[in-house]
Amino acid sequence: APQSVIGQDSAQVLGQSYPRDDFTNVTPKILEKVGRNLHNQSHHPLWLIKERIKAHFYSSYIGRSGNPLFSIHDNLSPVVTTEQNFDSLLIPPGHPSRKRGDNYYLNRTTMLRAHTSAHQTDLVRSGLDAFLLAGDVYRRDEIDASHYPVFHQMEGVRLFSNRQLFSRVQNGGELSLFERGGRRSPEKQETHTLEAVKLVEFDLKRTLTQLVSYLFGAGEIRWVDCYFPFTHPSFEMEVRFQGNWMEVLGCGVMEQELLNSAGAGDKLGWAFGLGLERLAMVLYSIPDIRLFWSQDERFLKQFRVQDIHQPVCFQTLSKYPPLHNDISFWLPNGKESEAGRESFTENDFYELVRSIGGDLVEKVSLVDNFTHPKTGRRSHCYRIIYRHMERTLTQQEVQRVHQQIEQAAESELGVQGRF
Ligand code: PHE
Repeated sequence: APQSVIGQDSAQVLGQSYPRDDFTNVTPKILEKVGRNLHNQSHHPLWLIKERIKAHFYSSYIGRSGNPLFSIHDNLSPVVTTEQNFDSLLIPPGHPSRKRGDNYYLNRTTMLRAHTSAHQTDLVRSGLDAFLLAGDVYRRDEIDASHYPVFHQMEGVRLFSNRQLFSRVQNGGELSLFERGGRRSPEKQETHTLEAVKLVEFDLKRTLTQLVSYLFGAGEIRWVDCYFPFTHPSFEMEVRFQGNWMEVLGCGVMEQELLNSAGAGDKLGWAFGLGLERLAMVLYSIPDIRLFWSQDERFLKQFRVQDIHQPVCFQTLSKYPPLHNDISFWLPNGKESEAGRESFTENDFYELVRSIGGDLVEKVSLVDNFTHPKTGRRSHCYRIIYRHMERTLTQQEVQRVHQQIEQAAESELGVQGRF
């Protein structure tokens, strides 16, 4: 793939040029990841999980002429419009998920997708009734062992016509998908019949339960009600992992308005989006999300199995010792800036730490938040844990990076160091 870079006036991403504006916030470190496509690299653990999911869907869901029911898409560009990422999914203007602080914008109208759901409407509009879609997604976020600003998702969508949904039901011909004058309730949308929704919901949950038990063998799962603007009802699936419940996917019955505008208004559908790293971490007991980006043979060679169904016994690489360093500063005077944006957000600092410290940074946490009793000025203290995945870091090396972070915090975020 052509290199992606950010220049004075424009960002070049995957061979295309995007003019900068006041929303542009992608960084060179993030652009380095665009085009890596870990999910398409043979024998990478994310590729392996993707292949296992494909194999499961290919063998379990077969069309009337013996063809696989679900088509697979794993090469869609991560550069999408805000219309695809938000509007097409009924996410209203001003919704908190659009915040500049949470996303990577190339400019006001173009961004790195924050979820694979960004492609739902386009693929439905192109006529597909059942598809899987894998891709890299980008979110500005906190920094720790299970959060990284780039991760991978697998989206699944399945639509049903009246005949497809009710054909297995006795006297199904008398049932309908839609009703007029209905009410939205916790169980269904206003235009759906309860019987149609319950069948779709049942098919969704069964599909995902079977997928997870195929991947994990017998394991405990549970369903939790939740909210997405583009599905109703909506659910999260959690799996039991080392004694804790861990969220691995979001899903639900697709909002009918979305299907109507994608030209599939005569059908009902379900959709899900699952996090591939989360699944891989549970499946192979991978302790740190940065390992997915590692080029270390000791990591990668463990996934080079002959057959994708062969079990992988992952040997945890011994972790090298961590070093930590604190940084304290006064925040810029708390008022909103002209653009109506917060003058300092914690994510801005996390982003800055990442863009300088890269993968040396394991975790950043706010350890003290202090307001001066007289002046009202606020100060933050963050602890940065440095650790290399493949070797032991020296104090000196860490000190150099830490000082660069201190300097950049003052010059770029307008904070005043208490170093
Ligand atoms: N896109 C949602 C997320 O990233 C997950 C999701 C996909 C939810 C499809 C419902 C339907 O959190």
